[in-house]
Amino acid sequence: MASRASQISVSMMCVDVTHTKDMVRLMEQSGVSYFHIDIMDGEFVPNFCLGTDYIRQLRSISKVPMDIHLMIESPDRKLDYFDIAPGDFVSVHYETTRHLQRTLQYIRAKGAKAMAALNPATPPDVLRYVLDDLDGILIMTVNPGFAGQKLIPATLSKIEDTRRWLDETGHEDVQIEVDGNVSLTNAVRMRQAGADIFVAGTSGLIHDGVMTEDGLASFRKAIT
Ligand code: DX5
Ligand code: ZN
Repeated sequence: MASRASQISVSMMCVDVTHTKDMVRLMEQSGVSYFHIDIMDGEFVPNFCLGTDYIRQLRSISKVPMDIHLMIESPDRKLDYFDIAPGDFVSVHYETTRHLQRTLQYIRAKGAKAMAALNPATPPDVLRYVLDDLDGILIMTVNPGFAGQKLIPATLSKIEDTRRWLDETGHEDVQIEVDGNVSLTNAVRMRQAGADIFVAGTSGLIHDGVMTEDGLASFRKAIT
């Protein structure tokens, strides 16, 4: 578990849009692995957030891969709306996806890495028969929809159980991403539990819409 390198995925919904370019340069310099793009449709979650044009515009100013988190109903019918590129992660929620295996396969066919996202109440077992189709599992550590919430403690043992299960079934390469209240303190516990990719938002990195070089260094230290 600890042999895999931890990676930072910065929650772009938490970044003040008027500072986007400066923040992007800072993240590139510090070697951030992904831009975490939260897409919300006002149906699956009670909020709206980011969208197709945002991804296109961000892509035009940076080559950092995207980690596109689709919190939308029927993502299988909407994947083509999005500018998905090789090297990106695309996650669809188990709770929204009627034909999960087909959708994961389709994401891979686009050259991206396929991830299934799980709400706090959803057990990992639902992914038993799609493990070979997965590059990652996104474990929500808060209920999806808003930044600034408190960690749901039971999700820590879920990270641990999922990591053990993946290793025992020969799926060591499947990464675990954690999203929600990844503070510096929680990040340490999440890493110990087996997380690989950490969504850095308002709890651990971004304050008043901006981040600093020192902030990025502290976050990296917490997850290493
Ligand atoms: C929702 C988002 C939020 C948020 C994370 O999927 O990804 O969880 O931006 O940042 P925090 O929880 O630290 O504000
Ligand atoms: Zn997210």
